[in-house]
Formats: sequence, C-alpha cells, structure tokens
Amino acid sequence: MGARAGAQQTRNIAEKIEETGADMVIFWGSQSGTAERMSNRLAKECQQRFGLKVLSVDASDYESSTIAQIPRTKLAIFCASTFGEGDPPDSYQDLYSWLQSTSDRSLAELRYMAFGLGNSNYKHYNEVIKIVVNRLDALGAEPLLATGMADDAQGETEEHYLEWKEQVFGVFRTQLGYTERDPIYEPSLKVFEDESLEPIDLNHGVPADKTSDRKTNTSMSAVYSLPVKGARELFQVSEHRNCIHMKVDFSEHPELKYKTGDHLGVWPINPDAEVSRLLRVLGLISRRQIPITILSLEEDVKVKVPTPTTLDALLSHYLETCAPVSRETIASLVQFAPTSTAKDLLTRLSGKEAYADFLRSNYINLGRLLERAAGDEGAWKDVPLSFIVEILPVMQPRYYSISSSSVVQPRSAALTAVVSDTVFPGTNERIPGLSTNYMLALKESLEDKGKPHPHGLTYPLEGPQESLSGGRLHAHVRKSTFKLPALASHPIIMIAAGTGIAPFRAFLQERARMQSIGREVGPTILLFGCRNENQDYLYREELAELKAQFGDLLTLVTAFSRPDSGEKTYVQHRVVEHADEVCRLLTDGNANFYICGSASMARDVSNELGRELCQRQGWSDEQLKEFADKQKRFKRWQQDVWG
Ligand code: 2AM
Repeated sequence: MGARAGAQQTRNIAEKIEETGADMVIFWGSQSGTAERMSNRLAKECQQRFGLKVLSVDASDYESSTIAQIPRTKLAIFCASTFGEGDPPDSYQDLYSWLQSTSDRSLAELRYMAFGLGNSNYKHYNEVIKIVVNRLDALGAEPLLATGMADDAQGETEEHYLEWKEQVFGVFRTQLGYTERDPIYEPSLKVFEDESLEPIDLNHGVPADKTSDRKTNTSMSAVYSLPVKGARELFQVSEHRNCIHMKVDFSEHPELKYKTGDHLGVWPINPDAEVSRLLRVLGLISRRQIPITILSLEEDVKVKVPTPTTLDALLSHYLETCAPVSRETIASLVQFAPTSTAKDLLTRLSGKEAYADFLRSNYINLGRLLERAAGDEGAWKDVPLSFIVEILPVMQPRYYSISSSSVVQPRSAALTAVVSDTVFPGTNERIPGLSTNYMLALKESLEDKGKPHPHGLTYPLEGPQESLSGGRLHAHVRKSTFKLPALASHPIIMIAAGTGIAPFRAFLQERARMQSIGREVGPTILLFGCRNENQDYLYREELAELKAQFGDLLTLVTAFSRPDSGEKTYVQHRVVEHADEVCRLLTDGNANFYICGSASMARDVSNELGRELCQRQGWSDEQLKEFADKQKRFKRWQQDVWG
C-alpha cells in the first residue's frame, strides 16, 4: 500500500526514513497504476518475508535532491513505467529533471535497485528506467542488481516482475544477509460491517469518489456522470464482434471541456455474474448490501476505495473483480484453503509453468479460481475481507480517443469502441471485454429495455430511466498531445487501423468546419486499414461525404486485410504505394504525420516510411533518426497507439 505525504509532512525522504525507522524506500512512478501496485506489493512482501520496514512512495511527494541524504545503511528501489514517446510518468517528472541537471557525485552513498515497466512494441522501450539508472550510476550510486525490465508486449509484465523480485530477495539473502521467515498474512486494512450507516452515504458508484484520493492532476478532469445522448452500432460482423458509437453529453457541467484529440477515461461496472460468484464462494452473498467501513491499520497507508460503502458497490464499481488472478495472489491464498484438494490445486497453479499453462486456456478471476478450487457456497469464508480488498486491483479507467471535434460539438463527446471478447480454448468460453460490453449494455438498456445483452451479461439497472447506471457513463477527460496543427492550411497525413480512425474522424470534422467557414485547408491524407470493406469499414458514409466536400484536398486510401477476394493489404503497404506524395509532403511540405491504432502497426508503418524516406533522400540511418527526432520535437510526428 502506498504512502502519501500530507500537507504537513516532510518532503525530505531522508527525514521520512529516519522518522519512520524504515530500512528501504521504493520510489514509484506510475501512469496506469501498475508500477504503484507492484511497489506496494513488494513493500508488503519485504515486510512479511524479511521483517523489513519499507516505504512505498510516489516519487513526486519528495524533494528529489534529498535522495542524496539517504544513508548508506538504507536501500532505495526505483520502479517506473515508460509510456507514449518515452515520457516519464507524472510522478517521475521532477526526479527525472533533477537527475539530469545534477552533475557531481552526490549519490555516492546511495545503494539501489531498479525495475522498469514497458512494452517492446513501442520504440522507447523502458527508456525512463534506463535513463534513470544511467544517471544514478553517473552520480555515483551503487547498483546492487542489474536493472529488471518488464515487457508487456506478450502480456508478461507480471512474470517479469516475479522473476526480478526473486532476484531482489536473492540479494537480501546472500549479499545483505537478511533473515527470511514464512510469510504470514498481516492485514493493512480493517473491513467491518456497520449497520448503523444510512444507505444514502454509501457511494454506490458515485464517480467523484473514484478520484477523491488522486492528486490534482492538470492533465485529467474530475470524473463525471454523463448522460448518454444516443448510441448506435457501427457494424456487427458476428454475434461477438461489433462496434459502437456513443455520444455523451457534457451540457450539465459547463466546467467540463475537451479538445479535439483528447481521450475519455471510461469507468466500467463489473457484470453481476462475476460479482455474485465471488460473493457466493466467500459466503457473503446475503451480506452484499450491508454497509461496511474500511480503515487503514498502518500509518501512511491510504484506503484506495471510498468508505463507507457496501460489498456490492465495492466489487461492482471500485475493484477489478474480473481481473485475472496473479500467480503471487494464488500463492498467498494457499494459507486460507478450506480443503486439501483446494490447497493442492492452488499450490500447483502458483508454479510458473502450471500457471502459464492454465492461463492460456482458462479465464480465472478471483471468484472463478476460488470456485474451481472449492466450489461450495461459503467454502472460503475464512478469507479475510481485508485480504480481498488488498489484493484486488483498484478499478482503472479505460481510455478511448474522442472521435468528435470539440469545435464542431463542444458540449458532447463521441466514442468509438469495438466490443471485444477473448475465447479460452480450455472451456471454449468467450470472456467479454469489460468496458466495451458495459458500454454495449448501456446502449441497449437505453434503446430497448427488455432486450437481453447479446453476451448474456447483466448489470444492476438503476436511476430514473431504469436503465443501466441511469443511462449515464462515468467518465473523465484526459488531455492529450495528439493535436491538429494550429493552421488548417498545414498539410496532414493520418494513418489509422481499426478504431484508430476515432481521432481522425474528429480531425476531419474539424477541417471540414474550417473549410465551410472559408478557411484555407491544406492537403489531407487518410490511410485507413480494416478487415473487410463490407464488414468493419468504420464511418464509411461519413468519409464518402467528407471526400465529396474536400474534393482533391482529401486523399482517402483504404487497405483491407481480409477482403472477400484479392490480396490482403495493410496500411503500411499503402504507405509504400503512396510514398512519393507522403515523403514529399513530409520533407517539402512540413506536413504533420499522425498514427493511431495498434503499436505493431505503428512500428511497421514507421519502418516502411523510414525506408522510403532514406531511398528518396539518400539518407543514412543516422540522418533518418535526426529527421525523425526533429519531427517529434516540433510535434510534426504524433502517435496515439496501444497494445
Ligand atoms: P488483421 O487482423 O486482419 O491481421 C484493424 O485491427 C486492422 O489492422 C485489421 O485489418 C488488422 O488486420 C490490421 N492489422 C493488424 N496488425 C497489423 C500490423 N502489424 N500492421 C498493419 N495492420 C495491422
């Protein structure tokens, strides 16, 4: 669990270590919460297994220069993720600048270890931790272990973390001579029923409470409950693959604004089947609506969910009840196993190979795991509720690029989302994607109240319209740097695959508006890839209308990867075919270049384009890099990619 410096607390980390008698400090820098969660888990495990007192802190809560005062008897761990264009997370910005601007050997006393989280599908793979470590070493700090790096490209972040953690514990045992003991669960939280509370106080999905413990962050708005103003299906290829377009209304909140290219963070609800399943195996199904209060038992540990609340609200809105269970969690559940069969299964699944094998063919969230290990209702009644609250990750928003222009429709934002599910070969079961299915259910609850969800999911209906969430989407706006050039006359080249079209729909809407009010609009190229012209060609009619309006100013090129007949084509093939025009606009026309879609597509497009540029310009790899760096510096190369 994370420590957070309050207003009156020190910003000197050495003082904090002294004050608390800590042995070690973990500085986390987290964007989506993973690095933070890992740091908190590591802190707790160090305490349980080695009796160490560990502070897990947001790096920006302390003055970076005070790291130099940490005595040699203590340890520091740096744990940070890299996202986007190799940017440090908000919490690491100060540390990052400080490390780069300090030049003496001021960290000669510091002993440290480091772990980075990244994705090798991205160009700047784990760049943040690499730069941090590089500077720490240059400033004289002593690494106790090679830097660990998690690569999420194959979804292996958790495994890479566990491998690195074992190396850290190896250093503890051998280099530092720490004594290890059998871990026993020590709660950091106290969770208790309190029937005196009025249901009205219980934060049933009240979105403001979702962010109440977050720091004010200039790049994010508060969370709002926004009425859905219409939703439609853009395509439905099969029962299990459809795409929805949803418009959410900002008009109740004059202070809520977005700009073209920004993201909307959607806070989903867990489907009732999974919430009930977990409550049933824990023997708590009849207690789901009873008020509970959650208190922290440790100084510096903040309760990460609203309290008071109910189990129902907690597991539906505030915790990732549907998230796959980690191997570490499975191992820690062994101590509560009600039968020897359950114990054997959990012990086996906590092994690396068995876990990977099982996960390949089965979906296991906590409820499903417990049910599988000992299925009877109430079989797991000895698992402390505090344990459940501690190990389930706190609900995270899912981000979507807004697909409308803030100039054209300032008081509402459009979303474009493909409803996805994953098939698990073990049971042949289709597990629906959390947030997209929630959005689909929301759409259907508004359109046709009696109609069952196509994937059989149910959610509580509530609110005046007796629709899901009262027909509202809980969401916030996150600013992005993915922006149109200031002048519409500036040429732009947009490359999209699948729902990567979303921000470009907004860009095109905006340029069309500029043109209609008489502004000069520059050459505009859109290369769009999807599977099949007749199945998932998103916004086909709108694009045709835009083409008719723009005429020769808009070059609209499509690539279909699964055509009814003919060759399979990807957007990068089209980049090569149109390389003359694209390269000319990039080098002579100062065009802005945008990519939106999967990270692997973005990487392939960059490689092809790089080759074409080198060929035409006679550039070496070095010269290409110089050009690419310059483009990025001047924001003429922008990416919004995922996966
Ligand atoms: P595929 O799924 O048929 O392989 C949206 O997902 C579109 O992007 C689909 O047409 C998909 O093709 C395509 N796509 C998948 N991987 C890609 C890659 N590396 N480069 C370009 N397009 C890709």
